[in-house]
Amino acid sequence: MSDVFLPKDQRVSRELVLEQQQAPLNLKDLFGNENPVELEIGIGKGLFITRSGVNHPDTNWIGIEIRRKYLNMARERVEKRPLGNVRLICGEALGFLEEYLPDNSLSVIHVYYPDPWPKKRHHKRRLFGEAFMAQVHRVLKPGGHLLIATDHLGYWEHIQEVLQAQTYLDPAERLPEDPDGATGLTNFAIKYQAEGRQSYRTGYRKPEA
Ligand SMILES: C[S@@+](CC[C@H](N)C(=O)[O-])C[C@H]1O[C@@H](n2cnc3c(N)ncnc32)[C@H](O)[C@@H]1O
Repeated sequence: MSDVFLPKDQRVSRELVLEQQQAPLNLKDLFGNENPVELEIGIGKGLFITRSGVNHPDTNWIGIEIRRKYLNMARERVEKRPLGNVRLICGEALGFLEEYLPDNSLSVIHVYYPDPWPKKRHHKRRLFGEAFMAQVHRVLKPGGHLLIATDHLGYWEHIQEVLQAQTYLDPAERLPEDPDGATGLTNFAIKYQAEGRQSYRTGYRKPEA
């Protein structure tokens, strides 16, 4: 699908304000269809979700980003295109999963270059842990995927430990894929590739019921 840009007066907000929503979300009502729904956690400036929304119009995309500054940059990218299949949330990912997502509701969860919190005293802030994996398992549909990329070796090793300790998901053949029309997976991936830094990618899958 080619990239189309809207004149300013035709742009609409794609931000989903959680405080104005009933929990859990009704995803069919939210998007007006029953297409598969994929979630990207920590969208940053929104390159991946924008390209994915353009390339896959028959998939619904939700992006969550905790920092308002980046969410606004992602909104600008999304809203200048006719992307009725994308919604963006300013909020914290684990709380969003716990409160707003129904059981068995997502086809894919993308987590690309999550903050590594390298200092030991900050490790408790890391997204990957038991509580996160339990939520991933609950909200993924049977056969759904968790796709992960990071450049940070220490966090990669931690993620491997978390994945190996859990019994909910199995290693999958599917890995994160660079969207067509982008020169890399995400903004961070492009930056790290240019610097010659290595990235690690993996994929896990919820077994069929
Ligand atoms: C290192 S950046 C990567 C951004 C983007 N995924 C990329 O690869 O270009 C991590 C992003 O995740 C966001 N973030 C960190 N913790 C989060 C959380 N718990 N919920 C939602 N977003 C989070 C940060 O604000 C930041 O924008």
